[in-house]
Amino acid sequence: MRLLVTGGAGFIGANFVRSILAQRPDTSVTVLDALTYAGTRESLTGLDSPDGRFRLVQGDITDAALMSELVANLDPETDAVVHFAAETHVDNALADPEPFLRSNVIGTFTVLEAVRARRVRLHHVSTDEVYGELALDEPRRFTETSAYRPSSPYSSTKAAADLLVHSWVRSYGLHATISNCSNNYGPYQHVEKFIPRQITNLLTGRRAKLYGSGAHVRDWIHVDDHNSAVWQIMTRGHVGRTYLIGADGERDNRSVLQTILRLMDHDPDDFDHVADRPGHDLRYAIDPSALRNELGWTPQHTDFEAGLRDTIDWYRANESWWAPLKEAAEARYTAWGR
Ligand code: NAD
Ligand code: DAU
Repeated sequence: MRLLVTGGAGFIGANFVRSILAQRPDTSVTVLDALTYAGTRESLTGLDSPDGRFRLVQGDITDAALMSELVANLDPETDAVVHFAAETHVDNALADPEPFLRSNVIGTFTVLEAVRARRVRLHHVSTDEVYGELALDEPRRFTETSAYRPSSPYSSTKAAADLLVHSWVRSYGLHATISNCSNNYGPYQHVEKFIPRQITNLLTGRRAKLYGSGAHVRDWIHVDDHNSAVWQIMTRGHVGRTYLIGADGERDNRSVLQTILRLMDHDPDDFDHVADRPGHDLRYAIDPSALRNELGWTPQHTDFEAGLRDTIDWYRANESWWAPLKEAAEARYTAWGR
């Protein structure tokens, strides 16, 4: 099997490529990535090998000629495109939405047109943020039939991309699946995101930063569990379907932050409250029953504290990967007062 992985130099894509190459000797991978501020070759080091199973192409998904050329190398019977590439940080989207429109909407349109021309299988990676927020005391969680109610420029462009995929399936019979996953954590996540920001703040002598009250709830899943679900959906899922991916990992931000502080031998109350994010979604929560019941998928990383400890250890051991990104990320936060 040959895979074209867009955004494979980013957090989730790089972990996906690493596990596929390690676990599936019959699969080769081409990564297409623009290497924006969020994607680095260093996330893929060690994968170049004489057997030619891995290749990185630096390029943009909005480049229609490049997309067609890469998809033309794939066999519609056996191969697939896995589409991770996107602008992904909510705070960046609030400051400047334009790149989100371009990569997430025009980019997904360009991917769709390339796979439509060759009848190649597509898996589109999306987010639970398309469903908007839940109240803290609401018993309901998001399901495949929840209405789209995106709140931010990021989530609305991801919602737009999902709708494009749905309509290409319906109108053109495209062989595509969609997954909407909750908040990922693990190695190679950019230091702008919540968990790596706190870990690397403490490692560089800065203070941990909590937005607003910290009562906001996210539904955490280890990146390897997200990626094992993506593989199951790609290989065994029903074409045309949406699957929600989550691991029953709801936690409020304050308790996640305090766990990080404790695991890193700091006083759990030693953090700064900073200005809240405008339009901050209160809670996300995924009901993953369809994925579990239909495809038999189960998460492996069910001990969140153990997963956090491993993630902290990874950032301790890989300062050379994140240090070049840290100053610029914190300069942006300083400018926003967060
Ligand atoms: P990331 O920001 O770490 O990586 C995104 C990658 O896409 C980067 O390597 C970047 O260079 C590349 N990219 C961006 N625009 C591009 C373009 N126009 N052309 C080519 N490459 C481009 O993101 P991530 O956290 O790994 O997220 C990957 C996907 O998963 C996204 O679609 C995101 O919406 C989705 N998702 C993320 C999470 C999460 O918690 N991080 C949860 C659910 C879904
Ligand atoms: O739900 C899936 C989504 O999760 C993905 O689609 C997005 O790409 C990904 O970035 C993530 O979005 P969030 O906005 O939930 O993640 P972030 O890491 O930015 O923030 C997590 C929570 O922590 C959120 O409630 C804001 C809060 N926060 C964040 C930062 C950076 C803080 O309290 N302090 C911080 O310093």
